[in-house]
Amino acid sequence: MTIQGTITEIKQTKANLIRTDKLSKYYGSANNEGVLTVRELKKYFGTVKAVDGLSFTIFSGEIYGLLGPNGAGKTTTIKSILGMLALQGGNITVLGFDPVITPEKVKENIGYVAEEPVLYESMTVKELFNFIASIRRLDPERATTVAKEYLVSLNALEYYDTFIGGLSRGNKQKIQVIAALLHEPKVLILDEPLSGLDARSARILKEIFQIHREKGGSIILSTHIMEQAQTLCDRIGIINEGKMVAEGTFEELQELAKTTVATSLEDIFLHLTGQTESAKGFLEKLRQLPNN
Ligand SMILES: Nc1ncnc2c1ncn2[C@@H]1O[C@H](COP(=O)(O)OP(=O)(O)OP(=O)(O)O)[C@@H](O)[C@H]1O
Ligand SMILES: [Mg+2]
Repeated sequence: MTIQGTITEIKQTKANLIRTDKLSKYYGSANNEGVLTVRELKKYFGTVKAVDGLSFTIFSGEIYGLLGPNGAGKTTTIKSILGMLALQGGNITVLGFDPVITPEKVKENIGYVAEEPVLYESMTVKELFNFIASIRRLDPERATTVAKEYLVSLNALEYYDTFIGGLSRGNKQKIQVIAALLHEPKVLILDEPLSGLDARSARILKEIFQIHREKGGSIILSTHIMEQAQTLCDRIGIINEGKMVAEGTFEELQELAKTTVATSLEDIFLHLTGQTESAKGFLEKLRQLPNN
């Protein structure tokens, strides 16, 4: 089946999915230790405690959202999961593998989309995908077919022979996501994957993420877009100053924040990260600044 066909099928069945049923499978089994576990993670840059004792678990078939203000420690957490940073404490497992001890096993099972597109600017899109197929030892014909399917669904096939350096930011982002998906990783790690994308492409990518989850894959997704977290994520972890301040389904977070009249994830987020009052105060000061 084509990606477009699968997307249509998922759209048709999505309405019938009951979130609580899906969630019960994560918690139902005592043996379910999680696809990705982060335990007491600590990462300091000098005196800055970027991540300070963070723990969470992501289960199979789950989309987990990492939310937090700028500088909260989301990217540092993600880079730690990828084994890119030397840690001050804690441990991480991805499908049972430690990213520091067996980075190759972790990389085999992960697809990563960085905050800023990191791609070989002097390659064409086609050359990049062929290169990935070669280093990941994928069947070249299948990889080309799959890559082209993704390009078509994201309205980007016309860039197949274009140098990556000449692409717009949004189109680079699409290429980065496709590159992360080509080897069908079990875990997708996405650092603000939809930033800079037009509405249609963002919609298609969200559907592609759903397909990944429907096939049993897991996703950890850092985002600032509340609507995205609310509609896409099964559970959300809100972090602030390197610590988890709240974690749960949207409904559970709503419950946690019910001391206020929180109606949206944005309200809940601002409340739980203690930003509601400070935002109000600063805005009032801005209003009162005298005109020139
Ligand atoms: N390489 C580095 N050297 C020094 N400090 C760093 C480095 N990387 C991150 N930090 C600091 O660690 C803290 C957490 O940064 P991080 O990039 O993880 O935040 P974030 O939650 O991803 O923020 P954003 O929403 O802006 O992307 C910040 O105070 C940041 O300045
Ligand atoms: Mg970041």
